Parts: sequence; C-alpha cells; structure tokens
Amino acid sequence: MFAHPLADDAELRPLEPWHAEEFSAHADRSREHLAPWLPWVEVVNDADSARRWLQSYADRQARDEGRLYGIWVGGVLSGGTLFRVFDTRSRTCEVGVWLSPEARGRGLITTAARHMIDWAVVERGMTRVEWRTLPANEASKAVARRLGMTREGVLRASFPLRGGLHDTEVWALLADEWTA
Ligand SMILES: CC(C)(COP(=O)(O)OP(=O)(O)OC[C@H]1O[C@@H](n2cnc3c(N)ncnc32)[C@H](O)[C@@H]1OP(=O)(O)O)[C@@H](O)C(=O)NCCC(=O)NCCS
Repeated sequence: MFAHPLADDAELRPLEPWHAEEFSAHADRSREHLAPWLPWVEVVNDADSARRWLQSYADRQARDEGRLYGIWVGGVLSGGTLFRVFDTRSRTCEVGVWLSPEARGRGLITTAARHMIDWAVVERGMTRVEWRTLPANEASKAVARRLGMTREGVLRASFPLRGGLHDTEVWALLADEWTA
C-alpha cells in the first residue's frame, strides 16, 4: 500500500511504528556497516527503542516537520530514506539515507532520493534540499554528486556520533537547479 517502485524487486514505502520488530532486526543485521555514519544506530537496540525512534518520526510527520520511508528488497527491510529536517517556513529540507550492504550498488538510493526531492520541490514547494555527511563518507558524497548537488562547505565539529563531534560536509541543491 502507498508504495513507490524502485526496481522489480524493490520498493519505497512509509516506515512506521508498527514496523518496530522488523526495523530492530534490520538495524541488528546492518549495525556494523551503518554505525560509522549514522547516529540513530546508537539508539535503536531492540524493538522498544526501535518503536520510540519510529514514533519520533511519526510525530514529526504529524507536525509536517519530517518523514521516514523504508526500502524493502525482495520483501525484506533493507534500508531507508528520511527528511531529517522539513521546514516549510524556510522551505528547506534535509534528506538522509541508508542501505544494507547487500542492496548497495544498484542505484536504489539515488532513485529513492530523486523521488523524495521531486516530491519536496514540486509538490511541497521546497526551495533548498540539503545533504549532510561526514567528509570521509565517499559513498554518500557520490550519491549527492549523482543527484546534482553542490558541495557548499564544512560545519566544523558539528555532528555528534559515538561520543564525539565531527565535521559535517553540507551539500545542497536549489529548486531551480532541480527543475532545470
Ligand atoms: C550511502 C549509501 C546509501 C549509498 O548506497 P549506494 O548503493 O552506493 O547508492 P545507490 O543506491 O545510489 O547506488 C549507486 C551505485 O550503484 C550503481 N548503479 C547501478 N545502477 C544505477 C542506477 N540506475 N542509478 C544510479 N546508480 C546505479 C552506481 O554506479 C553506484 O555504484 P558504485 O558505488 O560502484 O559507483 C550506502 O553506502 C550506505 O548505506 N552507507 C552507510 C550509511 C550512510 O553512510 N548513509 C549516508 C549518511 S550521510
């Protein structure tokens, strides 16, 4: 229901609190691959913590301040995309993504992110879509580049992860660039 196809065997659809068990199992399977890059992996350790995190996004969505989607490959939850920020006042949003290692290298994230950006820009009137990443995250920067984003700069010591504060690269595209 309400699914967007990404490939013959893959789809993007809302990831919601009722997926807590499935999301917790997905986090456990991919933990070592996601933990170097993603803060949520630190707080999702079991079904209860998974439900709390999913609920936080359901609450953000209810306020129109964020959204969360899962990527299912062959019926298995294998990744996701989110609007970590969705600010209708400044018309700025930030897209985040992740994928299990076995689902990578197929363009699923690029396709999913294009769909998210299209919706944000065309349907919701966002004028600025951001992408934030650790400078060492080459796979993430490659997606930003593939989406046509521009690297705007570095926010020093701004990204809390594993007890430290890390530099964040900010990439972005503007609505005019997207529709062109
Ligand atoms: C970032 C991440 C989601 C990227 O995953 P990915 O599979 O490389 O990204 P895509 O799904 O867009 O696929 C791109 C790859 O598929 C290939 N590809 C195949 N068909 C493609 C298509 N139709 N369109 C685009 N790329 C395609 C590309 O060449 C590229 O492969 P390459 O890396 O060997 O050049 C993944 O590395 C990840 O989950 N990392 C850990 C979490 C993380 O860092 N999240 C981001 C935090 S900022």
